[in-house]
Amino acid sequence: MKIQEQGQEAEFEIPWENILTSLEDGVIVVDRLGKVSFVNQAAEMLTQMPASQALRRPCSLLFRKSGWLIDMVKKSQSPQHSGTRGEGDLATPWGRQVPVSLTVSPLQDRYGRFLGSILLLHDLTRRREMEEDLKRADRLAMLGTLAAGLAHEIKNPLGGIKGAAQLLRREAGGNPSIAQYTDIMIREADRVNLLMEQLLDLSRPAKLNLASLNIHELLDDVLLLEKQTVQERQVALKKNYDPSLPPIRADRGQLTQVFLNLIKNALQAMNGRGRLTITTRIETGFHIREPGRKRANFIWVDMEDDGPGIREEDLPHIFSPFFTTKSNGTGLGLAICYRIIKEHGGLIRVESSEGKGATFSVSVPVAEQT
Ligand SMILES: Nc1ncnc2c1ncn2[C@@H]1O[C@H](COP(=O)(O)OP(=O)(O)OP(=O)(O)O)[C@@H](O)[C@H]1O
Ligand SMILES: [Mg+2]
Repeated sequence: MKIQEQGQEAEFEIPWENILTSLEDGVIVVDRLGKVSFVNQAAEMLTQMPASQALRRPCSLLFRKSGWLIDMVKKSQSPQHSGTRGEGDLATPWGRQVPVSLTVSPLQDRYGRFLGSILLLHDLTRRREMEEDLKRADRLAMLGTLAAGLAHEIKNPLGGIKGAAQLLRREAGGNPSIAQYTDIMIREADRVNLLMEQLLDLSRPAKLNLASLNIHELLDDVLLLEKQTVQERQVALKKNYDPSLPPIRADRGQLTQVFLNLIKNALQAMNGRGRLTITTRIETGFHIREPGRKRANFIWVDMEDDGPGIREEDLPHIFSPFFTTKSNGTGLGLAICYRIIKEHGGLIRVESSEGKGATFSVSVPVAEQT
């Protein structure tokens, strides 16, 4: 391609290969014998296969675990040479499945002779994550409305039961066993009441008291609250703080709740022994915002534990209210975290596999610089 610089006579050429290499989407060219003849950098990253390994090898061999892709290439190589579009999971040599959209176009020379096929691959991971997020938000909103209705209905008679138990205790005078029973009634009523309050919290739109905060101070405050548990148990705490992080814009109380819930979960998962690593970092890539919100920069906090991790079949449910694998858990901890982070305009993610620990990552917007 020839480029003419403005006001200058000189022409210079940009080699096509440089253009293809710089593209953010993956490009793979397959010749008419079905062998790979070009792979750009983005395609190397997506397929996790270096070009040196892919070049001159049959596409049907390299992508044998992604049958849908081979079918699309075959279609473009058929006598009709038809172009196709599709979506599917690309299986990498390391066993990862990457969701991609694929466009296969036949490559022809100027006389219309078929030379091969061009594969254009676009990574859909981010989009899938956003779709998951939306679905989850919908599910939560539905559950929240239902739960709030229920909580209201339960709170009123509960107040009556507690009041009656208090009266009974007074009436019983010095009878110790009645006092003991009524104490249990009052305590348990308080427990249900607290649970109902948490449930109502899930569905109420929170009034965020936003302020400019130092994330490290906040994290250290939370750690102080859990200090006793960390010390009692043999848990090694590692802080990987990035001291250059700017202040964040958040509600101190609500965010404290988030990190407290996450740390509690990690400590419970490690069951008294293990390593908890807290890392803070600035978001470097492009951050997708919700419509209507201003574009902002973000920081991330990663909480990594080396506990038993989360089973694959549990992963889609852990943020849903009442999902718990603990005998004494309510399953509200992560649902509350999710709601609070969502209201801050941030994201909460988890990466975990069974036996390999869990990492919860939370992003929060940076305070606007004045
Ligand atoms: N760090 C972790 N390691 C392993 N599993 C986890 C971790 N964090 C959460 N989980 C799983 O997610 C489930 C839901 O967590 P959540 O905090 O919502 O509820 P809970 O801890 O069970 O109960 P609650 O927080 O209300 O006391 C847990 O029961 C557990 O199975
Ligand atoms: Mg919890």
